[in-house]
Amino acid sequence: MTAQPIFVDQAVDKLAEDLALSELDSATTDSSPSGSSSSKSKAGAKAKSKQYERLQALKNTFYEQYASQYGHDRWYNSLLPALLAQTRYSALINRFADSSLLPEVLGSVQGDLERVDYVSVPCLTVKTTVPEGGATEKKKEPLPFPSPSKDMNNLTNYYLLDAASVLATEALDIEPGHVVLDMCSAPGGKSVALCQRLFTGGTKQTSILHCNEISPERRKRLRNVLKDYLPAPLVEISPQGGESVKVTGFDATKSHTFVPEFYDRVMIDAPCSSERHLLHDISKAEESGNFTILDEFLKWTPGHSKTMAARQVQLVLRGLEALCYGGTLLYATCSLSDVENDGVIAQVLKELKKRQKKGKDTFACEVLKFKKKRFPIGEKTKYGWICLPDMSDGWGPLFFAVLSKTELDEDE
Ligand SMILES: C[S@@+](CC[C@H](N)C(=O)[O-])C[C@H]1O[C@@H](n2cnc3c(N)ncnc32)[C@H](O)[C@@H]1O
Repeated sequence: MTAQPIFVDQAVDKLAEDLALSELDSATTDSSPSGSSSSKSKAGAKAKSKQYERLQALKNTFYEQYASQYGHDRWYNSLLPALLAQTRYSALINRFADSSLLPEVLGSVQGDLERVDYVSVPCLTVKTTVPEGGATEKKKEPLPFPSPSKDMNNLTNYYLLDAASVLATEALDIEPGHVVLDMCSAPGGKSVALCQRLFTGGTKQTSILHCNEISPERRKRLRNVLKDYLPAPLVEISPQGGESVKVTGFDATKSHTFVPEFYDRVMIDAPCSSERHLLHDISKAEESGNFTILDEFLKWTPGHSKTMAARQVQLVLRGLEALCYGGTLLYATCSLSDVENDGVIAQVLKELKKRQKKGKDTFACEVLKFKKKRFPIGEKTKYGWICLPDMSDGWGPLFFAVLSKTELDEDE
């Protein structure tokens, strides 16, 4: 497809509008008091088929955008089938919960359990047969793990999440004693993963985690997760709550929100296009004929990632301001789009250079390099690392990059 992006944008906006309108058409046709039931059902069927056609057109535009980024062959033959396959989960074992009942609980798992051996925190998965180069069939199977349960202290035994998410948190090299900011925290899976290193062993008495989340509903969920997974004396919201883990509700894109140069580690698991979720929504809508679940997808345009990136750049700049010199910041997304991944880091570096030229900033940053030895799943990108399910045992998508904050080189 070689259409100019602006025309594609407009065409897709129109498609989304049409889809919404035909929804309305079918609703009004169905409720018309004068229409016979057969003409009503004909009109309904016609509207459905129109909706379906338009959905296909929007979907094709979406597919072609990613085919042009990843190459036609990889996208259609490998990456897309792997993205459409069932999402994989690993069980991050909660070190704070009593593990004596785990063998019994996990005994009911169908399949061979294995440890995710490239992360330092205890994390289990069920062996799968996802072929290198992508899944070929869509399977609907129940989750391999039973629902997590509570121990006698009311702590939950494991958290189900993508192993690539755990891998990303490992890139921050969290140690006991660190002061950590998780800027976009809910529902809290990665916070739970961070805590497994932050509050175990060493000088954990001085460890601090500040979890921030702008959405009140999601913040409520986050508080519950923290209460369920961490010992009460650590968490301010628990009955015997301590000061180590705090929850805030700021808009993290705004300046002067976080204490400058306070944190040893900052994690930004940014809001992003989450294309795998969109693809699964499309499949569900096509299978069920229920197009109302496509709200998110209908908002997608070829320019969507650019809009997301503007917010993501602001988040990274605020994160760097909050980071202490020598500290490291993790930027992560579950987006497939280069614009939201390496593109954000490129924009941040450009913005910092611009500010330095104007004498506005007193810091610079360095992009840390990763080696395959450290991250056995995933691929190197210009500034970071990406796990994509066709080449990472079904895990991902998960992009991450790590920036270290440095003094400004006066000679530059
Ligand atoms: C990808 S999710 C984070 C997932 C989380 N880290 C986890 O592992 O469970 C991104 C979160 O950022 C929140 N968010 C979006 N914009 C924000 C902002 N300006 N400030 C703070 N949080 C924001 C969203 O509500 C969403 O919960």
